Amino acid sequence: MGRTHRISFEPVDIEMEVDEDENILDAAFRQGIHLMHGCREGQCSACKSFLLDGDIQMDRYSTFACNDSEVEEGYVLLCRGHAFSDCTVELLNFDEDELLNAIPIQEVTTQITGLEAVTRDIVSLRLKPITPESFDFKPGQYVDIMIPGTDEHRSFSMATTPNGHGGSGGGADGGGAHGGSASADLGEIEFLIKRYPGGRFSSLLEEGGLAVGDELDIVGPYGSSTLKDGHVLPIVCIAGGAGMAPILSILRHLAQTQDTRPVRFYYGARTETDLF
Ligand SMILES: Cc1cc2nc3c(=O)[nH]c(=O)nc-3n(C[C@H](O)[C@H](O)[C@H](O)COP(=O)(O)OP(=O)(O)OC[C@H]3O[C@@H](n4cnc5c(N)ncnc54)[C@H](O)[C@@H]3O)c2cc1C
Ligand code: FES
Repeated sequence: MGRTHRISFEPVDIEMEVDEDENILDAAFRQGIHLMHGCREGQCSACKSFLLDGDIQMDRYSTFACNDSEVEEGYVLLCRGHAFSDCTVELLNFDEDELLNAIPIQEVTTQITGLEAVTRDIVSLRLKPITPESFDFKPGQYVDIMIPGTDEHRSFSMATTPNGHGGSGGGADGGGAHGGSASADLGEIEFLIKRYPGGRFSSLLEEGGLAVGDELDIVGPYGSSTLKDGHVLPIVCIAGGAGMAPILSILRHLAQTQDTRPVRFYYGARTETDLF
């Protein structure tokens, strides 16, 4: 543990503590403050903010996310930034509803209950929470799955809904295994994961790697790509490959809640064998 400093966020008037050893985004999540973010690894710029006062140093990041002249002006990526003094940070993007009202981050030990191919290179991974026995999230959110035996993780979007319903009887996926992914039972969380040869996590989903009965730790939920309350306009969804997962979660939720908002979903795949 390093020294602790205080961060004040403007214009939202929120304060929190951050240890020098943790990045500011993670410190915020830990304290129930859900700042805007995307990749959480300095690549996308979704967390870009402006340092009004104080000393923030960044771990390695992409200059596409924050270029040198922006850094000189005072822009920082909160997912890469460590505070070395008390700081005042201006948030450039924030969702006032989410900032303090998001679902708390949970650490859950799960057990693999299903692992099956749904396209040439995408697998459906189903997990059942065991400690604690449930996991709360909003449709469209994602979690970090810890890579067993390491302290690394990879992020994956839930394809099921928070009350645990997947294909069977949900309706939105066109009726179970044929219309979308494999069916998930009540309480199971389904992920759609593309296998990359040599990928640290995804290659564990090949034969001889992870199997039904193995345990996986997850941390989350994260992400603000969710349905907002009170909206009534038609919804447009666009996804390719395993990007189907968060959309499927949203579609399943809309079907379960008998929401009548019209939805148009554009899905991209390279060849017919890449279709679910
Ligand atoms: C918010 C978020 C949500 C995500 N949701 C999903 C999801 O629902 N389903 C899903 O399958 N993935 C998802 N991902 C991507 C996932 O987190 C991993 O990056 C991916 O599975 C690769 O991890 P790995 O450990 O297998 O490969 P790594 O060991 O990290 O990478 C090994 C090599 O594989 C290749 N590779 C890895 N990722 C890609 C890529 N995206 N495109 C091209 N080549 C690549 C590269 O050559 C790389 O060097 C998500 C990522 C984020 C940030
Ligand atoms: S979340 Fe993508 S750069 Fe910080």
